[in-house]
Amino acid sequence: MHSAQPRPASFSPRGPLRGTIKVPGDKSISHRSLMLSALAIGESRVAGLLEGEDVLSTAAAMRAMGATIERTGEGEWRIHGVGVGGLLQPQAALDMGNSGTSTRLLMGLVASHAITATFIGDASLSKRPMGRVIDPLSLIGAEFNASPGGRLPLMVRGICPAVPISYRLPVASAQVKSAVLLAGLNTPGITEVIEPVPTRDHSERMLAGFGADLTVETDGDGVRHIRLVGEAELKPQTIEVPGDPSSAAFPVVAALITPGSEVTVTHVGMNPTRTGIFKMLEAMGADLTYSNERIVGGEPVADITARHSNLTGIEVPPDVAPSMIDEFPVFFVAASVAQGRTVTSGLDELRVKESDRLALMAAGLTVIGAKVEEREDGLVIDGSGGEPLEGAATVASALDHRIAMSFAVAGQHCYHAVSVDDVSPIATSFPTFEAMMAGLAGA
Ligand code: S3P
Repeated sequence: MHSAQPRPASFSPRGPLRGTIKVPGDKSISHRSLMLSALAIGESRVAGLLEGEDVLSTAAAMRAMGATIERTGEGEWRIHGVGVGGLLQPQAALDMGNSGTSTRLLMGLVASHAITATFIGDASLSKRPMGRVIDPLSLIGAEFNASPGGRLPLMVRGICPAVPISYRLPVASAQVKSAVLLAGLNTPGITEVIEPVPTRDHSERMLAGFGADLTVETDGDGVRHIRLVGEAELKPQTIEVPGDPSSAAFPVVAALITPGSEVTVTHVGMNPTRTGIFKMLEAMGADLTYSNERIVGGEPVADITARHSNLTGIEVPPDVAPSMIDEFPVFFVAASVAQGRTVTSGLDELRVKESDRLALMAAGLTVIGAKVEEREDGLVIDGSGGEPLEGAATVASALDHRIAMSFAVAGQHCYHAVSVDDVSPIATSFPTFEAMMAGLAGA
């Protein structure tokens, strides 16, 4: 867990940014690789695991429920699973730190085991809504004792055997989808998730990769029906985790807005449910090229080269949102220095992330000199037309790694430094971020 002590930092324009880098492993895939390995019988190996605080919270929780999880080298981990149905009663509360993904997915796993677990987290996580997973998991028979508003700390009393359900997602959330599917692993019969708006599909891919009987059918209306046969037997796997496109977005946007820059990020996950950010940047005129395209561990991967570009404002179609849901903060930075107006909508989910990302980005960008209008479900930004922003202000990161990194990137193209009140949350997903950015600037 990162220290409770805030760590302020200041980001001045440095550059041009040049070089070739590799970002840490994908956070979503890292969580899932530990969870599924811990439920397989036998030894799995994971390479390229993100060793950020969020993923370490998942590792600690799976250990507390009986799995053996060891680090064998940099990003290399060995996991001995307990088998589906074999999770043990944790002896203490599971501390999820800042991690919503750990919390919601593990609530699903616990829900169909005959164990009771208490989930706790930091101030940010304790504000986030858990009702969205409590609702479907109550339908399978699990019981919950949550803090007011369906929040952490909360206790889950799992049930075995659970009742299989067919659940239509009321919110476009891969975490809710995954919680139901993971609960379905130890539930007799077929668990179905109906997904009207597609979200990241790493759970589906990885469950199938571990040998679960899972099918996905897309009906005539584009609605996905994901069916999982329960009481699954998972076979141990060797997994290579691709680089996180959500992390790659930071150096990519930094290169695009910093004159003279050319940065290549290698081994980036290009799963189409994740690459909305690159498509929208290209729609703004970004010079992005992809090379070395290949499949790694069932996921498409490529090297991405970003060169400084004159960006133009666009209207982002709301249906693109799920495929770039975590990238809006840094996308807003790009929009702030583009030519013309960028309009975003349909982004209510951004208000319940690690922070209220619409409010935080609107406030922070405004104090550093950008022209931003905050609406209920999005931001409207009138870009500076390539001019640096003023900077010379301190912004709040509110325990949100992506807010902190977005303002570090914004500092690249300001007249004066941008200060962030606390950059310690960056360690949840991208512990090497600051060193990597300094390296690209030749610092
Ligand atoms: C994630 C899903 C998304 C995303 C989060 C990771 C996942 O959350 O924002 O960072 O790994 O399933 P939602 O399901 O709440 O959209």
